[in-house]
Amino acid sequence: MKLVLTSTSLSIQMAMLVALLCAIPAAAQNSAPGASGATSSASSSASPSAPGISGEDVYQKRCAKCHDQEGSRAPSKDALRKMSATRILRTLDFGLMMAVAYPVTRPERDAVANYLGTNLAEAPLPAAAFCSAKVSIMSGPANDSWAGWSPTASNARYQTAERAGLAPAQVRRLKLKWAIGFPGDVTAFAAPTVVNGTIFVGSASGMLQALDAKTGCTHWVFQAAGPVRAAIVAVPGDDSTSLVFTDLTGWAYAIEAKTGHLIWRKRIDEDEATRLTGSAVTLDGIVFIPAASWEETRSIDPQYTCCTFRGSVTALRVRDGSTVWKTYMVDPAQRTGTNSVGTPQWGPSGAPIWSAPTIDTKRGVLYVGTGNNYSAPATATSDSVVALNLKTGSIVWTQQALANDTYNSSCRSKGINCPPPNGGPDYDFGSSAILVRGPNGKEILVAGQKSGVVFAFDPDAKGKILWQTRVGTGGINGGVQWGMATDGQKVYAAVSDVSGVMNTAGPVGGATFDPAKGGGLTALHLEDGSKAWYAPSHPCDPPRPGCSPGQSAALSLIPGVVFSPSLDGHVRAFSTEDGEMLWDFDTAQSYATVNGVAAKGGSIDGAGPVVVGGMVFVNSGYPRNGGMPGNALLAFAPEE
Ligand code: HEC
Repeated sequence: MKLVLTSTSLSIQMAMLVALLCAIPAAAQNSAPGASGATSSASSSASPSAPGISGEDVYQKRCAKCHDQEGSRAPSKDALRKMSATRILRTLDFGLMMAVAYPVTRPERDAVANYLGTNLAEAPLPAAAFCSAKVSIMSGPANDSWAGWSPTASNARYQTAERAGLAPAQVRRLKLKWAIGFPGDVTAFAAPTVVNGTIFVGSASGMLQALDAKTGCTHWVFQAAGPVRAAIVAVPGDDSTSLVFTDLTGWAYAIEAKTGHLIWRKRIDEDEATRLTGSAVTLDGIVFIPAASWEETRSIDPQYTCCTFRGSVTALRVRDGSTVWKTYMVDPAQRTGTNSVGTPQWGPSGAPIWSAPTIDTKRGVLYVGTGNNYSAPATATSDSVVALNLKTGSIVWTQQALANDTYNSSCRSKGINCPPPNGGPDYDFGSSAILVRGPNGKEILVAGQKSGVVFAFDPDAKGKILWQTRVGTGGINGGVQWGMATDGQKVYAAVSDVSGVMNTAGPVGGATFDPAKGGGLTALHLEDGSKAWYAPSHPCDPPRPGCSPGQSAALSLIPGVVFSPSLDGHVRAFSTEDGEMLWDFDTAQSYATVNGVAAKGGSIDGAGPVVVGGMVFVNSGYPRNGGMPGNALLAFAPEE
């Protein structure tokens, strides 16, 4: 275990890679219900422990101080021993212990889950959840689609009137049509993809589902090795459609859309901390996969060797998962020194890519937005928009919005691994750059930063900055987080700007956020970045634990209407003309579900709503940083 934490030598990384490769077949089972619609139980199990890591040691070091304490709220060790290893792993990955577990590496998680838990399988869904034989998969009209992070590779998150099937007057009459619960989860953050009337959506437990959009019944489930939050990419082939997606533990998968059967799976990077949050995009039989990392949070631990992860894009053939090219955003890390408790330090690192790349076929390039460096030295590719050659992956140009932004999560508490002088300010481009033709006929790239500033870059002049406009105050969890949307007239930018006391090292949910600070939605004219209108946020009323007015989730757009969900649990729709609020629904409540899994809503963050065929699909529940937990996927349609 010491070695994993303190060495970055190639042999150790290879050993971990082998451990992970061995682990996968057991964890990535998949199954489909029989023709009768009977249930299937795709069970995931914790991976076998990496050699040399003792689950008991991990327990003593990371868990005992709370779980061995009598009279504490934490369940006793005996109680934990009655849970399945799978459930314990899920609790660490994306359950109640998520915040506690940030510094814990994957092999350590596997070791402690296997040490404590039973090897009983779990049945993820009741039999009643599955569709009857009469409902066939992907049998809806071709127009009933929103495939990937955005309906098109420009990342505008704009659904045409024809595909949305929803006029502004109908948005005012949206009512809940059905809800499902994600079993055993406290987070619902996966971006839904819709193809011909079938929803494909991941979950915090790594269970992927194919659902009928009209009724919410389940066609099949597939169990991935880790949580899946990125949108699933649909790639139509000669005789079948493939789905490509990634998980938060570094794996990419291709499965058959109709059956959920695995075609291939592959680890995207040898780095153990690889975290695949940004959705892949596809062109001509190739998928482009962006990579980010858990290293930023692991560095809270003074014993963690910070940092070696390198942000990257990997291009793979959809057919067989073979690599076409791979481009890193920073050079390989070198040993740079030793921190004050004797842990080696490495750099450069970081410049991760958290969001879906943007495809520009006209110029033959792919654009990505990068985050900060994790350790010194700083590089010219952090907090930047970078253009890569689509065919070769070579970097064509880089436009940096902020230099010298070297930060990791230890800086939140003046921790030992925080790069000097103070670290930060942590102003990532966390969301995709959008390629759009403005009303003046000129194509521009617009991107929102965590600084609270929206930039327009010139794709014909190496990303020269054309205008920049401040729309929020910005911060570590501030500014533009998950993404803007544009209709070719205006660009719409909501900000998080969440403020108050976040959860750092306890069970998730229930932070004391400022109930009146944060959020706000601004519409900017594309030509010059001038403000068209501003819709203020709504204070939490009444204030409730884990509630903030912050609007960090991605926006979604149909002609005349922009949707903006909030950490306060509401999803709201605004007129694109003047920002008038057309619709407001409080998702933080309990639901009767069509899949028979108890469901609750909470804060909304990450993926934005998806609008298809007269319906709106919204995930609710996001306790990261202390927001309100939840496990619901909600479907809305206008009242007749
Ligand atoms: C800072 C204290 C603390 C630490 C450290 C901690 N836990 Fe917990 N844990 C809690 C508390 C408190 C709860 C009960 C939360 C609740 O019910 O609201 C809990 C609950 C759990 C549960 C039950 C979750 C459920 O779904 O009911 C599991 C499993 C768990 N912890 C595992 C772990 C493991 C494994 C570790 C070590 C890697 C760990 N915890 C470290 C405080 C802690």
